[in-house]
Amino acid sequence: MKELQTAIDAARQAGSKIREKAAVAKRIDVKSSAHDLVTEVDKEAESIIREIITSRHPDHMILGEESVDAGAVAAKEALEKHRKHEDLWIVDPIDGTTNFIHGFPFFCVSIAYAVRQEVVLGVIYNPMTDELFTAEKGKGAWLNDEPIQVSTEATLAESLLASGFPSGDPAGMRQINTDGILKLSPQVRNIRAGGSAALHLAYVAAGRLTGFWELDLNAWDLAAGALLVMEAGGKATDTIGGSYEIGVRHILATNGQVHTEVQQALAAVGATGF
Ligand code: IPD
Ligand code: CA
Ligand code: CA
Ligand code: CA
Repeated sequence: MKELQTAIDAARQAGSKIREKAAVAKRIDVKSSAHDLVTEVDKEAESIIREIITSRHPDHMILGEESVDAGAVAAKEALEKHRKHEDLWIVDPIDGTTNFIHGFPFFCVSIAYAVRQEVVLGVIYNPMTDELFTAEKGKGAWLNDEPIQVSTEATLAESLLASGFPSGDPAGMRQINTDGILKLSPQVRNIRAGGSAALHLAYVAAGRLTGFWELDLNAWDLAAGALLVMEAGGKATDTIGGSYEIGVRHILATNGQVHTEVQQALAAVGATGF
């Protein structure tokens, strides 16, 4: 599929710019809350990606985080406006902006392409490690051209999970997420919160994490990573087990084997029915 090369080129070119600017002071602007930041590099990276996609696929539509107003309401409205388009690109120019600002090298570019609302390819690129994760619907998932698969842990006791702390707080989601971490941490091997939802999903796909969940995310945080997990043999649903689709805002992605147990633990702390 020619769109895969477009996504790879866009991710790599935006990634070079991000890498070049990683050690330089950035202008930081606050978006919806003190937890929700943006820099000029996020915007530059999105422009690079838009330019490449538009030059090769002028009829396609692009939903990019930095072209949407801040906050969950605007994000939902933008998705509704864009989702019906036959060929839709869903772009997060830097997933993990807070890490980028602090020089914590765990952030990525995430690009997905959806045809008639179904994600058919996903590319996640970590510019600091030069790791390129790619997935194509029905064809599998790769890390730098080597096929990848989810991990084999079969019990919570053997599992390394990850979660995160949502940037916004609609319906007390930060608290529910924290309650989930407290509930699961004694039962699992350990829990990480690296600060990039997309990279966590890529790590689940690559078998480096057993599973990941987080609440209050947007289409651009999840579209590429959810496909990666499924194509690597794992399971990606919302936190109550509903199928993944581009409007999902709360994710549970695992190697499949511990999915139900994590889902039950989250249900017990109230992660139900968003
Ligand atoms: C954020 C990251 C973070 C998650 C936030 C997201 P951004 O995306 O994925 O891990 O906890 O909720 O908004 O703003 O860095 O693209
Ligand atoms: Ca952001
Ligand atoms: Ca993001
Ligand atoms: Ca972002």
